[in-house]
Amino acid sequence: MHSFSPTVSVVVPTFNESQNLPRLVDLLDRTMTGIPWEVVFVDDDSPDGTWKVAKQLARDDTRVRCIRRVGRRGLAGACIEGALSSAAPYVAVMDADLQHDETILPAMVAKLRDDEAEIVIGSRFVRDGSSEDGFSARRALASRFAARLATIIIGRQVSDPMSGFFALKREVFEAVAPRLVPSGFKILLDILASTRGQARIAEVAYRFRSRQQGRSKFDARAILDFLGLLLHRMTGGTVSVRFLFFMIVGTTGIAIHLLALRAGMLAGFGFDTAQSLATVAAMTSNFLVNNQLTYSDMKLRGMAALAGLLKFYVVCGVGALANIGVASWLFVSNDWWIAGIAGVIVGATFNYTMSSIVVWRQQQN
Ligand code: GDD
Ligand code: MN
Repeated sequence: MHSFSPTVSVVVPTFNESQNLPRLVDLLDRTMTGIPWEVVFVDDDSPDGTWKVAKQLARDDTRVRCIRRVGRRGLAGACIEGALSSAAPYVAVMDADLQHDETILPAMVAKLRDDEAEIVIGSRFVRDGSSEDGFSARRALASRFAARLATIIIGRQVSDPMSGFFALKREVFEAVAPRLVPSGFKILLDILASTRGQARIAEVAYRFRSRQQGRSKFDARAILDFLGLLLHRMTGGTVSVRFLFFMIVGTTGIAIHLLALRAGMLAGFGFDTAQSLATVAAMTSNFLVNNQLTYSDMKLRGMAALAGLLKFYVVCGVGALANIGVASWLFVSNDWWIAGIAGVIVGATFNYTMSSIVVWRQQQN
């Protein structure tokens, strides 16, 4: 057997963290005495060249690995790929910015090894844990509120389900991996929801530190992703986060349409012309918002965006025909509003499915 085979893979998602990596590797080296370990940096092609730093570290130290992902963004997706890339019996996930206290890692791994638990959470909120240093008061409050909401979908009480610092057994991870939502910020929450409260959980308290270098990537987008994840899990995982976003964006399109219609008529266009212009305006705005939000992880830019917009017009045009076709067919023997709603649902679903295939090429999830 070849000599190096780690017991723990520490998966670290990174985006613009170049300055933190050398220090983190150094800290891991000091802490993980007696446990064969490796660290897997999963970098989403950071503009600051984090992946270059990681690969340089990897050249000097076989315990360091780096996956540079291109054309993709997302904290949860990065963690999933990093964890899947390794074979170590235990997987830990932590941030690169030194906010998570690496010195509790050996205790976390020990709990897995002694089979005290299948998932061990580094927790900021249990007794002796603290979140005072690293979080603003507002964010701490929001975090507690979100944790309440999260309890509903996990089906049990966990003091820090939003933690980005945890360790688990490989079997558990591999079993849920196909069901995880890669676009989110809260991967632990998703894992807990996917195991439906079946996994044995332990918590280890730690002091949340202040970020060392660089800036937090937590933003409005992360909050939206969190809400999307909640809805996805509340519907039993049947309705995808993307689909939900797509429908919400579609609804805003109606408002845009009516505003544009009114503006067109005020500008002196006849109804038919104004209605046509409003339709184009709504489709354009839907495209732009979906590109920014629903498909932010695979955003089209430049010429690709222009081509995408044209394809989106075509898809929506066909979707409108499907909508009208179904509605007219149902109207023969149903109430007008049943026919109307059914038409809208068919049209919207068609638009979603087709645009996820031809505009933003990817499988749905
Ligand atoms: N690959 C990749 N892609 N990494 C990312 C991305 C991304 O799109 N966005 C963020 N990261 C990396 C950051 O570089 C960092 O290492 C880690 O993910 C966490 O990002 P931060 O920006 O530092 O997030 P935070 O400190 O606001 O929140 C973190 O800590 C909380 C408390 O544990 C996250 O882990 C939260 O999920 C967690 O609740
Ligand atoms: Mn952080």
